[in-house]
Amino acid sequence: MSESSNSETAKITLGENTYEFPVLTGTEGEKAIDIGKLRSQTGHIVYDEGFANTASCKSEITFIDGDKGRLSYRGIPIEVMAENSTFIETAYLIIYGQLPTRKEMSQFSQKVLRNASLHEAMMHFFDGGFPFTAHPMAILSSLLNSVGCYYPEMVTNQREQDLEHFDDAAALLLSKVRTIAAMAYRMKNGLPLIYPKRDLGYSQNFLHMMFTEPYHEYYPHDDVTKALDLILLLHADHEQNCSTSTVRMVASSGANLFASVSAGVCALWGPLHGGANQRVIQMLMEIHKSGDDGTAYIEAAKQGKTRLMGFGHRVYKTYDPRAKILHGAAEKVLSVVKVKDPLLDIAQRLEEKARSDPYFIERNLYPNVDFYSGIILKAIGMPLDMFTVMFAIGRMPGWIAHWREVASNPKGRIIRPRQVYVGFRTRNYIKMRYRDGETSSDYEQDEHKSFGGGSSENAAAKA
Ligand code: CMC
Repeated sequence: MSESSNSETAKITLGENTYEFPVLTGTEGEKAIDIGKLRSQTGHIVYDEGFANTASCKSEITFIDGDKGRLSYRGIPIEVMAENSTFIETAYLIIYGQLPTRKEMSQFSQKVLRNASLHEAMMHFFDGGFPFTAHPMAILSSLLNSVGCYYPEMVTNQREQDLEHFDDAAALLLSKVRTIAAMAYRMKNGLPLIYPKRDLGYSQNFLHMMFTEPYHEYYPHDDVTKALDLILLLHADHEQNCSTSTVRMVASSGANLFASVSAGVCALWGPLHGGANQRVIQMLMEIHKSGDDGTAYIEAAKQGKTRLMGFGHRVYKTYDPRAKILHGAAEKVLSVVKVKDPLLDIAQRLEEKARSDPYFIERNLYPNVDFYSGIILKAIGMPLDMFTVMFAIGRMPGWIAHWREVASNPKGRIIRPRQVYVGFRTRNYIKMRYRDGETSSDYEQDEHKSFGGGSSENAAAKA
């Protein structure tokens, strides 16, 4: 599968000259002007703050139609995957490009299972290697990179060799990200470490490692396991988001898979990206505590004093299809665990208010995936600081697939954007004694000595 280039071209006029550039059309019909030769032909570069209009690559993994609220993994709509699939099957689809046969599925699941435990030497990290105050995202990022040290054959930073071990590395990371996450939680809470079990499925094993005690086996309700699995599935990939772009950027330098996904975790942590799920619940708790019905918070968001967390998206200009699925799932989970969470009512009220408010309507701000996921995570007993970790576990298949797409592209280039420099023009180096307040006439004299009178450019430089 690839894009097609048709006879359509785009013309750019600069002064007296007009230049023509090819237009690429993706398989879903989206068009892109190929400006690969722009600088060599015109001397200009393009400026696109935040890459809002820039396709950084061609990719076959995930498609989003932000205007229609469509999302598909390898061509299969997210609603169909949510209805029929599991996280592990979805991971296979995203990583390998097609749904697995029964045999492939069984081999893949076995491989993931076999890799669930950590090298015993890594356990020392959980025994005083981090302070109890460490955020689990910091632990996760460090340890994902560290895991690679135990498999030197997979982290050579030589593409052919790293690709040769790709299947093992992918299964290993999918499995160990879950174990590291659970261990980080237990270490932080002073709980004994619980090892994974061979007879449990992916999400059930995670819940077991999180919540089982030596004196009490934890058996989650099937609907709780399914809800967690659904959350992971819905987060599995989302094309060129901030963390995936980070993974691709790191991969583009030739760095191995472990280093690349570890960087992805760091990018995900921020509150404008994966960190938003934690902030949504904090926002809802704040509103609840203050007794506000949401009106004051929405007014503050409109005045730019805060943001309505879990709202808005760079690509979706309508309802995020993942949020729609999670809204329904949140109601179901709360009824299963028999919890009446006032935060769900507040979230629904906030959504109602925001969706009838011209500020949010004009800016196409709708609930995104983070708006309802936190309510489910909270209902199943997940602590707040683990919310973004859950996003990271879910996003792992996407990061892995994107790393592979970059690493296996023989024409791939290092990702290295340009910039429009707006800093000082050439300035003089002022010696410390002048910076420390000696007379300006001394400085003038010294400047003449060093630079033969200084330059007019320097005089015009920004102060
Ligand atoms: N609350 C209030 N105003 C908002 C919000 C919000 N959540 N999001 C955007 N706006 C306003 C923004 O102030 C701007 O207004 P104006 O045109 O008057 O300056 C306009 O809408 C466009 O916003 P932007 O920041 O230029 O949009 P962006 O595409 O750069 O940012 C976003 C996208 C997701 C970072 C942003 O909508 C946001 O901060 N949302 C809250 C955080 C959040 O929920 N993040 C999770 C994103 S989905 C999961 C993921 O993929 O990470």
